Amino acid sequence: MSFFHVLWSYTAQALTLLFFALVVAFLGYCLYIKYIHMKYDHIPGPPRDSFLFGHKHTILKVMNKGGVVHEQFLQWSEKYGPVYKINFLHYIVLGVSCPETTKEMLMSHNYCKDRVTYKRLFNLFGQRFLGNGLITAYDHDMWYKQRRIMDPAFSSLYLRGLTGTFNERAEKLMSTLSDAADNKKEVHMLNLVNCVTLDVIAKVAFGVELDLLNNTSPFPKAVETCLKGMVHYIRDILFEYNPWNKPFINEVKEACKLLRTTGAKWIQERKTAMENGEDVPKDILTQIIKSAGKEESMTQEDEEFMLDNFVTFFIAGQETTANQLAFCIMELTRQPDILEKLRKEVDDVIGTKQEISYDDLGQLVYLSQVLKETLRLYPTAPGTSREMAKDMVIDGIHIPGGVTCLFNAYANGRMEKFFKDPLTFDPDRFHPDAPKPYYCYYPFALGPRACLGKNFAQMEAKVVMAKLLQRFDFTLVPGQTYDIVDTATLKPKSGVVCTVRHRDDKK
Ligand code: HEM
Repeated sequence: MSFFHVLWSYTAQALTLLFFALVVAFLGYCLYIKYIHMKYDHIPGPPRDSFLFGHKHTILKVMNKGGVVHEQFLQWSEKYGPVYKINFLHYIVLGVSCPETTKEMLMSHNYCKDRVTYKRLFNLFGQRFLGNGLITAYDHDMWYKQRRIMDPAFSSLYLRGLTGTFNERAEKLMSTLSDAADNKKEVHMLNLVNCVTLDVIAKVAFGVELDLLNNTSPFPKAVETCLKGMVHYIRDILFEYNPWNKPFINEVKEACKLLRTTGAKWIQERKTAMENGEDVPKDILTQIIKSAGKEESMTQEDEEFMLDNFVTFFIAGQETTANQLAFCIMELTRQPDILEKLRKEVDDVIGTKQEISYDDLGQLVYLSQVLKETLRLYPTAPGTSREMAKDMVIDGIHIPGGVTCLFNAYANGRMEKFFKDPLTFDPDRFHPDAPKPYYCYYPFALGPRACLGKNFAQMEAKVVMAKLLQRFDFTLVPGQTYDIVDTATLKPKSGVVCTVRHRDDKK
C-alpha cells in the first residue's frame, strides 16, 4: 500500500470517529435538554415551537415584524399566570409577575443579575461595550464598590445643584421650539428631547459642552446604533453568524468604538486637569476615575473599566429619559383634560418665570403623577432579570433552582389584575392618597440594583415638561401613530412629529 493510501485510511477512520463522537455528543445534549424539559414542564407556559430552540421562533417572529416583544410576554402572563416558563436550548426563563416573588427577588442582595444576559453585554459582537460597568456587573462585590463611589454624585444635595444646568439646557430647547412656532415648522420631538438629555448628561456627568440643538454630532446616532445592536445580540444568538448582517455588525462595532475612544479622550483631559491642580467638578467623570483605583498602580484593565462606566452613563443617562419625555408629549396630545389640569398646576407653581427652582419641582405634584403614569404604559427600560440559583415556590408551584427570572415592567403595567382598565392613561392612579402599587410597578427596577439616576431623570424630565407646558401648544401632525418601537429601550415609533404654537398665540 502506498503511503497515501495509509494516510487516507487513517484520515477516514479519524473522520468517522469524529462524526460518531459528534453524533453521540449531540444525542447526549438532546438527552440533557429532554431532562431539563422534564424537570420544568410542570410549570405552565406556551407550547414550544421546537424541541431544540424552544420559543425562539415566536420571539423572532415578533421582532422581525417590528413588533414589541414585551406585548408577547404580556399575553403569556395573562394566559399562564404569575409564573410561566419559556425555553431556549437548555435554558429556562421564567416570566414572573407574582408580587411576592418580585419583592423577594428584587429587594434582596441574594439574587444576582442573570449572567447570560448581562455577561453578554460585556461586549457587542466582540467589541467591548458595557464591560463590568455599573449596570452589567453581576458580581456583588465588584458592583457594590462602584455603587458606593458613584452614590455621592446622585445625592439630593448634588442634584439640587444641577437644577441650573437642567434649566439652561431646557431653555435651548424652548428657543428652538419658539423658532419653529414662529416659522410654522414641524418638529421631531423625539430627536429634540434626545439632544437635550444628551447635552445634559455630557455637561453634568462629564463637564463637556455639546450643544446638540445647534451643532451636529455623531453621538446620537452612535447611541441608537449600539442599542439596536444590543437587541439583536441579546435576543438572537445566531445573528452574528449570518453574513448578511456583517455591514450592520461593523456599524455597531464602530459606534461602540466611537463612544469608548471619546471616553478615553475626555478621561485623559480630566486627569490632566486634576494633575495640574485645577478645580474639577465632583461629577460622574471624577467618580469614574476614582472607581478605577490609584493612578500609579493603574492597569490596562483599570483603564478599560473606566470606559465601561463612561459608556454605561453615556447610554443609561440619556436615552431612557428622552424616550419618556417623547412618550409623555405624545400621550398628552390625546388627553385634553389632563393637559388642562397640568397647565393649571404649572401656571400656579411657576407662573411666567424662566428659572425653575428645586423647590418648585417638589410642588409639581400632578406633573409627577403624569410622568409616573407615562412610565407605567411606556416603561422605557422595560425590565430586569435575576438568577434563581436555589429551589423556590412561586404561587404554589415548586420551581427547581437554576433558572433565570424575567421581571417585565411593560407586562405588569398593562395587566388588568394590577391596574384597572390598564390601557386608560390615568395619572390619578399615582395620586399621593391612592394606594401604592404593590411590587407590580417598577420602571426603574427595585431594590439594591434599582436605577441610580431615577431622581436625576425625573428632575430633568420635570424641568423640560414644565417649560414646554408653560409656553407651547403642541399637536401631532397627521399620520403620526401612538405605536411603540422596541430597540432594547422602548420609544415612540413615529418620533412624535408635532406642530407647535406659542400658548398665547390663538391663530
Ligand atoms: C426615565 C429614565 C430612566 C429609566 C426608566 C431608567 C431605568 C433603569 C432600570 C430599569 C434600571 C435597571 C436595569 C437592569 O436591571 O438591567 C436602571 C439602572 C441604572 N440606571 Fe437608569 N433609568 C433612567 C435614567 C437614568 C439616568 C438619567 C441615569 C444616570 C444619570 C441612569 C443610570 C443608571 C445606572 C447607573 C443603573 C445601574 C444601577 C446599578 O445596578 O447599581 N438611569 N435604570
